[in-house]
Amino acid sequence: MRRPMIAGNWKMNTDLASGTELAKGLASHVAGKDSSVDVLVCPPFPYLQAIKEAVGDSGISVGAQNCYFEESGAFTGEVSVDMLQDIGCDWVILGHSERRHVLGECDGTINKKTKAAIEKGLGVVLCVGELLEEREADKTGEVLDTQMKGGLADVSEADLSKIIIAYEPVWAIGTGKTASPEQADEAHAHLRKWLSSNYSESAAEAMRILYGGSVKPSNAEELLGQPNVDGALVGGASLTVDNFGPIIDAGRTK
Ligand code: PGA
Repeated sequence: MRRPMIAGNWKMNTDLASGTELAKGLASHVAGKDSSVDVLVCPPFPYLQAIKEAVGDSGISVGAQNCYFEESGAFTGEVSVDMLQDIGCDWVILGHSERRHVLGECDGTINKKTKAAIEKGLGVVLCVGELLEEREADKTGEVLDTQMKGGLADVSEADLSKIIIAYEPVWAIGTGKTASPEQADEAHAHLRKWLSSNYSESAAEAMRILYGGSVKPSNAEELLGQPNVDGALVGGASLTVDNFGPIIDAGRTK
């Protein structure tokens, strides 16, 4: 059985006051409910420590949206894995499509970051997903294979337990368009097959694969109802308790 995870990617949103309020609201939302779902929030760097404090002992984990692969030194503007762990981060999102397509990150860089994180025990939410033109050209499988191969190069099977994959079709991110439950499940099944061929059947079975792209309360339950969908990585709808709360609750029904 794979434990569901509902993760919120706040992107470059919130400020100290609103982020703290959101975190406290989420902590109250989960209080007293069964803990059969992992909940993760990923605020912007400057607020990580405050949000960690605000979620307190609610069981909600806090993660960053990026990190750098070097340990320390002259890397102006970068944040190391040690720094994230120092302030209590358990996870980092890597390879998000906005980093790939807006900030120009390639699979090689994402791989270095992935290895740097897992070496220190920082969990990685590794994002993969195709562009609209790639889907329309029937290249979804090929793109996913390339991103998996690139992102996971030299990652051992044992280390896969520190990684979660997030399938996020780029055409569905922030667009209001959601992959249909069948499209999501098909892509997740493809990723699982890749893991089975490149690692093992048991590694593929154990891997949690989250769906991301316009997840909202109205579609969460149906998406999460798919056999290969183990949770959600949520952007826009993770910014209010009213939206993110019901998505967390939908994760409990898995
Ligand atoms: P969205 O973003 O839910 O706003 O589409 C998802 C993501 O980019 O992780």
